[in-house]
This record gives sequence, C-alpha cells and structure tokens, in this order.
Amino acid sequence: MDYSALIDEALHSLDWHKEPIGLYAPIEYALQTGGKRLRPQLVLMATNMFGGNIKNALNAALAIEVFHNFTLLHDDVMDNAPIRRGKPTVHKRWNANTAILSGDQMMIEAYTLLQDYPKEVWKVFNLMAREICEGQQKDMDFENRASVSTDEYIDMIRQKTSVLLGAALQIGAIIAGATEDNQKKVYNVGVNLGLAFQIQDDLLDCFGDPDTFGKQTGGDILENKKTWLLLTAQKLAADAKKENMPSPALTGNEKIRQTLAWYRRLGVPEKAQEAIQEYTNRALQQLAEIEVPEEKKKPLLALTAKLTNRVV
Ligand code: IPE
Ligand code: IPE
Ligand code: MG
Ligand code: MG
Ligand code: MG
Repeated sequence: MDYSALIDEALHSLDWHKEPIGLYAPIEYALQTGGKRLRPQLVLMATNMFGGNIKNALNAALAIEVFHNFTLLHDDVMDNAPIRRGKPTVHKRWNANTAILSGDQMMIEAYTLLQDYPKEVWKVFNLMAREICEGQQKDMDFENRASVSTDEYIDMIRQKTSVLLGAALQIGAIIAGATEDNQKKVYNVGVNLGLAFQIQDDLLDCFGDPDTFGKQTGGDILENKKTWLLLTAQKLAADAKKENMPSPALTGNEKIRQTLAWYRRLGVPEKAQEAIQEYTNRALQQLAEIEVPEEKKKPLLALTAKLTNRVV
C-alpha cells in the first residue's frame, strides 16, 4: 500500500480556489509544495495495524497534515525562517499577517476535516494541539535563557513535535477500534519517534545540505535556539573545563561558522546520532510489545528505518 500517494491524492482533491484569494492561495501553496507527509502516514499505518479500514481514517490523516502545516506557517514567523521545502516561507512570499490568518484558517480546516469523528478522537487531538502551543512557547522562552537542562529540552520537544506523531498514531488506532492499552502503547511509539525526529531536525539544521534539507541551515544558531546540539556542546565543554565557546558577540555567518566548528571539535554530531538511535530504539521496543501480527507492523518499521537515514 502506497500511503504517501494516497495522501497526496487526497490532499490535491481539497479545493483552495476560493475567495478571498489572499486567504486561500497561501494555503494551497503550503499544502502543495511537498513535505514528507510523515504524520498522515502514521494515522493510516496505525489504522491498518489494528485491523481498521484506512478509508475511514483518510480525513483524520488529512486533518493531521493540514494542522501540521498550519503550525509551520506560524512557526516560520516565530523562527524568522526564510525558506521551507526549498521555497520562500509564506510570511516571506506574502507577509506575516498572511501567515497568521491563512494559518488560522488551516487550523479551522483541520477541525472541519475531523468533525465527523467520535469524541475520543477530538480529545486526543485537542490535548495534542494544546501541548504544541505550550512547547512552542517554551522553545521561544528558551531563546532568552542562558542555560536549559536536558530534561527541560526533552519536555519542550516532546510538546512542540513529538505529541503530534503520538496523536497521529493514537487517532489511527482509535479509528480501528484498538484497546486503550494499545492506544497508549502506540502513542508512546510516536512520542519516542518524535524525540528522535526533532533531535535529527536540530542536527540537520546545523549540518544538513541546504539543497536537500529545504530550510536555511544555521537558522537555529542565529535564533539562539536551545537545540540538542547546543546543550550537549555546553555540557561537554564544561566537563572538559574548556572555555572555547564562540563569543556571544558574534553574529551572522561568522556565528554559524564558529559554532559549527565548536560542535565538530567536541564531537557533538556523533553524540546526536547516538541520541537519535537511542530514542528510535525505544520506539522500536515499544512497537515490539504491541500484540498484532508482525506482518501488520511492517509499514511502520519501514518508515522508521527511512526516518533515521533522512536528509530532509
Ligand atoms: C518540520 O516537520 C517540523 C518539525 C517538527 C521538525 P517535517 O520535517 O516533517 O516537515 P515536512 O512536512 O516534511 O516539510
Ligand atoms: C518545529 O520545530 C515545531 C513546530 C513547528 C510545532 P522547528 O522550528 O525546529 O521546525 P522547523 O525546523 O522550522 O521545521
Ligand atoms: Mg522552525
Ligand atoms: Mg520553531
Ligand atoms: Mg528545526
């Protein structure tokens, strides 16, 4: 089953040729300029894994993807990000007001796609949405703090990124009629995959190839983001009693260049790879504990393997 093609086809069937164009054209732009479609695939894979009919999960999968893209429109404003998926971000191509309002409209569209699902689905969706906002606020608060602990960082990325992967899997499971125990287990698979995913995103933001990654590299460094790489470098430098941290007075390309060199000297990229592997292993262990025929786990296992090697 080609889940990705199914999702793309369904996404393309949504009609954004509506008035006012200023509101809807950016939505079409955001939804039809690519993306890995990871989260809606998780919805469909969970539904299939627990023996449900994926046709019943398609609108929920679309809701999750539209919601994800809404968060990206607002996130790019907050992060001052100029490029996404190799194209100007909505707030650069249009302006911040457009990113705010078209983003809001996408959130409403996501809720509309979800409207015929049971209350159980809504509960999971709303808790996830609330946590993403909390995580995004923490992400911004941390920019202005000198130090952040690893626990605080993990809590922040669990909220801003991982709960969406967890909720995608749980919603797919609910639609298939999975037990509460299995719903909880599959949610935790998603959360651990999400933690690995965000650490990898932090790594790619520093060391990814801008041509394939599709985002400006070094953006997190310029925005003073407390990424996994920065926290690990600070810890390693303190342990080794090294005062070789780049000067806080640096700006622009020089700040990026010196910070990357500092990370390399400390072996931070290798440590990040280890952390990504550790959280991926936790996800795989939790998946192994779910009692469904092994055959049914194959799509999710294949997707997980693909994610750990991703360059996008
Ligand atoms: C970007 O997510 C936001 C993060 C949580 C890092 P993706 O990397 O899944 O973005 P697309 O949808 O594939 O472009
Ligand atoms: C993504 O965090 C979290 C949300 C969009 C909610 P990032 O800010 O790291 O995502 P990218 O790197 O812009 O895709
Ligand atoms: Mg961002
Ligand atoms: Mg962000
Ligand atoms: Mg990022």
